Amino acid sequence: MDLVNSMTPLKLTQFFIFFSIFFQIKVESETPKQFLKGFKANPDPQISNFQPLLTDSTGNYSLSFLRMDENQLNLAIIHVKSFETIWVANLTRLAKWADPTELHFNGSLVLSDSRSGVFWSTYTDGDRVWLSNTSNLQVQKVDNGVTSPSVLWQSFDFPSNTLVENQNFTSAMTLVSSNGLYSMRLGFDFFGLYFKGESGLGSGSDTGRIYWRHKALEAKADVMEDQGHIYVVLKSNGFLGMYQNESVPVDIESFNSFQQPVSGVRRIRIEPDGNLKGYFWDGSSWVLDYQAIKETCELPSPCGAYGLCHPGKGCSCLDNSTNYSIGGCSPPNSGEPRDLCGATYDLDHKRYKGLSRNGVELSNTELMDYKHMVSFEECQSACEGNCTCWGAVYTNTSGFCYILNYPIQSLVGVRDESKMGFFKMREGVGKDKRGVGFGVGVGLLCGAILVLGGVIGLGYYRYMKRKRERGVSGYVDDDGVVVGPYKDLGNASFRSIELIER
Ligand SMILES: *[C@@H]1O[C@H](CO)[C@@H](O)[C@H](O)[C@H]1NC(C)=O
Ligand SMILES: *[C@@H]1O[C@H](CO)[C@@H](O)[C@H](O)[C@H]1NC(C)=O
Ligand SMILES: *[C@@H]1O[C@H](CO)[C@@H](O)[C@H](O)[C@H]1NC(C)=O
Ligand SMILES: *[C@@H]1O[C@H](CO)[C@@H](O)[C@H](O)[C@H]1NC(C)=O
Ligand SMILES: *[C@@H]1O[C@H](CO)[C@@H](O)[C@H](O)[C@H]1NC(C)=O
Ligand SMILES: *[C@@H]1O[C@H](CO)[C@@H](O)[C@H](O)[C@H]1NC(C)=O
Ligand SMILES: *[C@@H]1O[C@H](CO)[C@@H](O)[C@H](O)[C@H]1NC(C)=O
Ligand SMILES: *[C@@H]1O[C@H](CO)[C@@H](O)[C@H](O)[C@H]1NC(C)=O
Repeated sequence: MDLVNSMTPLKLTQFFIFFSIFFQIKVESETPKQFLKGFKANPDPQISNFQPLLTDSTGNYSLSFLRMDENQLNLAIIHVKSFETIWVANLTRLAKWADPTELHFNGSLVLSDSRSGVFWSTYTDGDRVWLSNTSNLQVQKVDNGVTSPSVLWQSFDFPSNTLVENQNFTSAMTLVSSNGLYSMRLGFDFFGLYFKGESGLGSGSDTGRIYWRHKALEAKADVMEDQGHIYVVLKSNGFLGMYQNESVPVDIESFNSFQQPVSGVRRIRIEPDGNLKGYFWDGSSWVLDYQAIKETCELPSPCGAYGLCHPGKGCSCLDNSTNYSIGGCSPPNSGEPRDLCGATYDLDHKRYKGLSRNGVELSNTELMDYKHMVSFEECQSACEGNCTCWGAVYTNTSGFCYILNYPIQSLVGVRDESKMGFFKMREGVGKDKRGVGFGVGVGLLCGAILVLGGVIGLGYYRYMKRKRERGVSGYVDDDGVVVGPYKDLGNASFRSIELIER
């Protein structure tokens, strides 16, 4: 009694808050449903995957510490039953899964550690943190009794690689694949997928190169210059709608289950292979319902740099003297320069080997500029003479010459021998090392063959497993090994704007 009497009302409130959090954690042994000021949490060293901190009212989602690369930590919203990450905080750098790392709420939700300082913060002055049953994390200001709380910050405004149903995707936002290579953005009247490339990582404002685009058909409404930016919403009816002003979509991109009721919520995600996929929850797993790019070979880099993708078959290398193996066709190009113009690349000894070959094609020519040229030789020499050019692809029936001003990724192998390409193969630092130890090389080769055998076996097993699970007849393995083609899901989907009643 004395203790309580001696407390000021403020202290009493704090005590009560502390007590209620304590009560929720200890007595219900559950994660809390909200954070109030004073909340603190540290990573538990015993936990190997994720540590729930806050759940929504259904228990479907939780805000968690997510363990990454063994000892690193990120803050994530997780779909609990599938362990799928719906959102991650965009940290300046990853935190450590160790004691000095702390999440606290003092009006701002802050991830920090006492040595490195603040990794991430909402920079707000709110009263509580709450997770909606649609996976939207919010910092709210609670005006006592007056209407509903106002939202100061919400994770829906900062998506990472995923959008859920009814989440608005605006031109201020970017979806970025978990490996940082691919992104989705809006343009004036389209949404596009962009390849940032390894050289582009962290290089500021550069959006990268577009490899897929969905332009508004404007069947029901036109995109108007003066009506502000378009935005995209994933709708419960099974489509991505493009809108300019709320009611009427300027376009829809429909899913397989378009206009069919499905059992659970939907989401789309930009995948580590650069595809955009849509899923719905069937109560026990996520069912694939949409993919922007249906053919494996049309992905931006299914076979890696200098790879050649053969539809329905798999990968080889542009340079036919190189065997396509787990490592792909070129060593990982960390620090690959953007072009061949730098001081070390000109002078007389050009640091690349020219390679010409027939039967190659680009997968996204409709998004690329070309020049008319009378011959392949002319197209090739236009590239040879320009240090920003990494390669050129020529079709002699049309006379189109496509100049590639970016490090070469995968091309598509075709039977048509009149489609020709010229490529600059970088002869990098590795060249001198090639002479070292033939024996070592043979040993590695034998090892690689064994590993390859294992990978093929495992790949086939996983392929059959996923085939059974998803009903998709092929996929790009996590290791980047093409096991088979995608089934053309597009045949099952159809675009029918008339069906939308709005
Ligand atoms: C909350 O904590 C952060 C990090 O410790 C600090 O920078 C910020 O000023 C604090 N905010 C308030 C309102 O105390
Ligand atoms: C989610 O919350 C809303 C109210 O915020 C409610 O109407 C809806 O029924 C809830 N959905 C589920 C699945 O609990
Ligand atoms: C994360 O932050 C960086 C730097 O602030 C920014 O360039 C990047 O676009 C952000 N990523 C996302 C997915 O918003
Ligand atoms: C999305 O935008 C629409 C129109 O601007 C708005 O009415 C709606 O509340 C927004 N939804 C969310 C989840 O922010
Ligand atoms: C959310 O929870 C409800 C009730 O437990 C369940 O029926 C539903 O399938 C869950 N949804 C997801 C996306 O997990
Ligand atoms: C490899 O390519 C060269 C040049 O394009 C060609 O002459 C040669 O026949 C090819 N070799 C094989 C085994 O395909
Ligand atoms: C090299 O290519 C770039 C990009 O296509 C072009 O802007 C530039 O004018 C070319 N330079 C020369 C010398 O042709
Ligand atoms: C295209 O190339 C093929 C084989 O290289 C040749 O036979 C054909 O005449 C060429 N066509 C044109 C229009 O130049």
